[in-house]
Amino acid sequence: MTFSARGLRRTLAPDAVPGAHALHTRIVAKIVDAVGAMKGPAAAASLRASGLEALHTVLDPLDVGPLRDRVLDCLREDLLRFAARIGRTVLGWHDDFYIDDYLILRVNFPYAVARAADGAAENPGIGRLSPSVRAAAAARRVRDPRYDPRGYHRNHPPAAWAHGPHVDSWTGHSKDGINVWWAISDVPADAGMVLYPSVTPTDVACDPRSLYVRSGYALPPPAFVPLAAGELLVFDPELLHGTHLNVSAQTRVAVSLRLNERRPAFDPDCFYAREFWRRASDVVAGRSTVLHLKREEHLAARAPAPARPPAAAPTVTVAPGDDATAVALGPASLLAEGERFTAAMGDRRVLVLRTPSGVHAFDAACPHYGIDLSDGGAQGETLACPGCAVGFDVRTGGSASPCLTLTTYPVREADGTLYLDLVPVPC
Ligand SMILES: [Fe+2]
Repeated sequence: MTFSARGLRRTLAPDAVPGAHALHTRIVAKIVDAVGAMKGPAAAASLRASGLEALHTVLDPLDVGPLRDRVLDCLREDLLRFAARIGRTVLGWHDDFYIDDYLILRVNFPYAVARAADGAAENPGIGRLSPSVRAAAAARRVRDPRYDPRGYHRNHPPAAWAHGPHVDSWTGHSKDGINVWWAISDVPADAGMVLYPSVTPTDVACDPRSLYVRSGYALPPPAFVPLAAGELLVFDPELLHGTHLNVSAQTRVAVSLRLNERRPAFDPDCFYAREFWRRASDVVAGRSTVLHLKREEHLAARAPAPARPPAAAPTVTVAPGDDATAVALGPASLLAEGERFTAAMGDRRVLVLRTPSGVHAFDAACPHYGIDLSDGGAQGETLACPGCAVGFDVRTGGSASPCLTLTTYPVREADGTLYLDLVPVPC
């Protein structure tokens, strides 16, 4: 079976691609060697004993960029050859095809560590181009004044950034690529990719401020993708996907590769493009030729606007009574199980949601990037942030991260009316 068709995704065991196991072993060894060269033999020995999941105990977030340079400079051609093998043996592409020259070594420290990183430490999702084209790429760098990732991430250091839901063509990648996301360390569900397989680009719109999905689109609960070290996720990146903020206690390490069956073309609505590509035939033959596919000469047709506009959960404006400690929200029948609304009281916005256990109320903004939780998918008693995918227990406000807790408020029902107590539940 091939999966060049759109919309598909599949997890592969390490032995599903010839040479995967050996290359995975080399990547791990190269990372350990690089740590040894940067931090000394004791750090390398510690990592060897504890696994890459302990990388944050021997490296500072500022060291991740130099680590990336060492590993990708050394393994670049091997990784590209591996991508060529995936195209041939997994995707079943018989004609020549294209491989993105931009390789990513993703190193996501636990959030509790990354949030305290120096602002100069690299974003976990940064990649590297071949040295021969880096100057050309830098000369092509452009900026859309609307794009404000620092504002979106609410001034978190880039080392603590997590990808919100997006499709890759929104972020400058080719329109019809296939992504390979390779777990180098173990990747638990609360540190890995999240997919929204039922959502396609025709359902939602891109926010030019973040290049992630615009607020106002209700998302389903995310599908998690835990992977054992060495496993690969191969997927269509035009399905909505993102990164679960790493709220685990371990570093997760992954490698990303991208292939295109045909000549890459780019979304005309994105201000930049990943323009540097290799031909599979060149890679296999050992030729280091890098093609420069200039964005303006390789634009795809503009995608139609989503069929439906964003429609945020209803907002009910309420005014506190004289004692200012409780407000009437309206008839309890207003809210069936699974339904929600936002209660707006001046500057304060509280999300009210009925789950199987009853009606719950909590701050409508995620305590992480401040994203409006009313778009998040709920399952049972858990509401997922529509940005960082962290799940909050709506009964307690708690999440897997002690750093991220929602303020909750008591809700009571009397004579068929819902009342919100404005004094938060003590933590
Ligand atoms: Fe992506």
